[in-house]
Amino acid sequence: KYNAQAASALREKPLYQDDEYADVDWDNLGFGLTPADYMYGMKCSKDGEFTQGELSRFGNIQLSPSAGAIYEGTKAYRKENGKLLLFRPDHNAVRMQLGAERMLMPSPSVDQFVDAVKQTAYANKRWVPPSGKGSLYIRPLLMGSGPILGLGPAPEYTFIVYASPVGNYFKEGIAALNLYVEEEYVRAAPGGAGGVKSITNYAPVLKALSRAKSRGFSDVLYLDSVKKKYLEEASSCNVFVVKGRTISTPATNGTILEGITRKSVMEIASDQGYEVVEKSVHVDEVMEADEVFCTGTAVGVAPVGTITYQDKRVEYETGDESVCQKLRSVLVGIQTGSIEDTKGWVTCI
Ligand code: COI
Repeated sequence: KYNAQAASALREKPLYQDDEYADVDWDNLGFGLTPADYMYGMKCSKDGEFTQGELSRFGNIQLSPSAGAIYEGTKAYRKENGKLLLFRPDHNAVRMQLGAERMLMPSPSVDQFVDAVKQTAYANKRWVPPSGKGSLYIRPLLMGSGPILGLGPAPEYTFIVYASPVGNYFKEGIAALNLYVEEEYVRAAPGGAGGVKSITNYAPVLKALSRAKSRGFSDVLYLDSVKKKYLEEASSCNVFVVKGRTISTPATNGTILEGITRKSVMEIASDQGYEVVEKSVHVDEVMEADEVFCTGTAVGVAPVGTITYQDKRVEYETGDESVCQKLRSVLVGIQTGSIEDTKGWVTCI
């Protein structure tokens, strides 16, 4: 809405009294940013209503660090003896570097990244939940923060790390999830940025996710964008399919996020004698599996109870004896220090 009050205040007390034209070299305009005097701002709350906006001088805006960008997610856990543990933060650092390279952004070195995560976790140690009650989710993020009007790398980037204590990701808690196989919307295409942990990887799923949630599902399983027959991942996590002693997961080919929990679970599963296969997983194979489970930093290792595809709903094995539960207990044991870390995955701070 036009803010008549602000506009009339500006007319009465303009910034510049005498200039008919701003001081610009009009014959040499390119597409570089030459900010005009004023910008208009208006905010929208969750109810979808924009409040009365207003004009202000062009300038930097305040932005919550938790606004979307290219980001990482890692967790700090409290051991029973009170010590704090980080899980493979160097892998998050490398993943941010790879993502930044794809997005033509500079990124912190592994040492800078890990040091920032350690400092943030330590400074916020009173927010790390007691052992067994959750974890401190740590979000390192990278965003273009310098002004630019055209298409190109930003003139300035900002790296931020913030933290928040978290419990279970899904409202189901640790109960099995009900997933819906999406056939209309896709989350990533070959050659795109589906393998990058950037907000561009998550924004396209919101519509399908919100539709599925309104129908009572926990999350959506996406299919490949070309044949719409092969499993990709869920909105929030990677996915695994179990048949007998074989555990399959979609191969990372640029459209799938290379989860750190994903690769840790793959390693734990092969240590335990399962055959772990990265491949194209056909949706029919998913519907015939014994078990399906999801992995992610936020999600952890979560069992899937049912999957609905077209007009078919399939139920899977879950519970204490499931493969998912066995892998989950080893991973959580290593992360929280109750199982000895023989792999060098955990850093004590
Ligand atoms: C994570 O697992 O760390 C994520 O960033 C997933 C996101 C959907 C919260």
